[in-house]
Amino acid sequence: MQKTKKLKKLVVANWKMNPKTNAEALTILKETLKGANTAVDVTVCPPFLFLSLLAKIKLKKGITLGLQNVSEFEEGAHTGEVSVLMGKNFPISYVIVGHSERRAIKESDEVVAKKVLAVKKAKLTPIVCIGEHERDQHGLYLDAIKKQLLASLALLPKAAIKEIVVAYEPIWAIGKSASEAMDGHTLHQTSLLIRKILIEQFGSGAKETRILYGGAVAPENAALLVKEGEVDGLLVGHQSLKPKAFGEIIMGVSHA
Ligand code: 13P
Repeated sequence: MQKTKKLKKLVVANWKMNPKTNAEALTILKETLKGANTAVDVTVCPPFLFLSLLAKIKLKKGITLGLQNVSEFEEGAHTGEVSVLMGKNFPISYVIVGHSERRAIKESDEVVAKKVLAVKKAKLTPIVCIGEHERDQHGLYLDAIKKQLLASLALLPKAAIKEIVVAYEPIWAIGKSASEAMDGHTLHQTSLLIRKILIEQFGSGAKETRILYGGAVAPENAALLVKEGEVDGLLVGHQSLKPKAFGEIIMGVSHA
């Protein structure tokens, strides 16, 4: 399937609920900047509480900060939530939405769809996460992926499809070691399926939608996953907290 426009590959660091201190957060970001190169777009998504601090660091071209989550609401009585408009006080470009660790605490497809819309309205780019719990022999996971993808994008205007990122993260691979990541061939089949579903639903604009892979990404598998899996980048969890390893992942993606 031919894509029309070649955007740069994107590598996303999802720090999740790490690290513990301001000092560590500063060090990780500063070291991460050393490993970034302009061939690849990089976005670092720290916990909200570190944003004020990290936003003071001058970022290189092609590197941005992002959010790991936002509320579907703009403001109001929503204790403990953070709105995308608050995020806009910082130099952020991307917002992860519908991560499986949030879906695990009962974030529904309907709420994810509202969050995607809120992020788009704020003129930022949502990174919409999808992925199956397990691969059953009968291929039921294929329907599950389709249902989750379409429900998560249910409120997105058709024309906006090229302005979002879809991150495919099979839940069974998350947090595992490199050898337990999905193999490149299977990833290719899945990325083709995702693109086909997007094109059927949203039209040819979906040829430009960036599709990322996440789940046990490490220096040893990054280039292969992107090349064989034919994805447009990676969403990296625990290895993104290790600047040297993350730098190698960026290098691998830029050569893939
Ligand atoms: P790991 O890279 O730790 O497997 O996490 C993947 C992930 O959930 C990124 O969002």
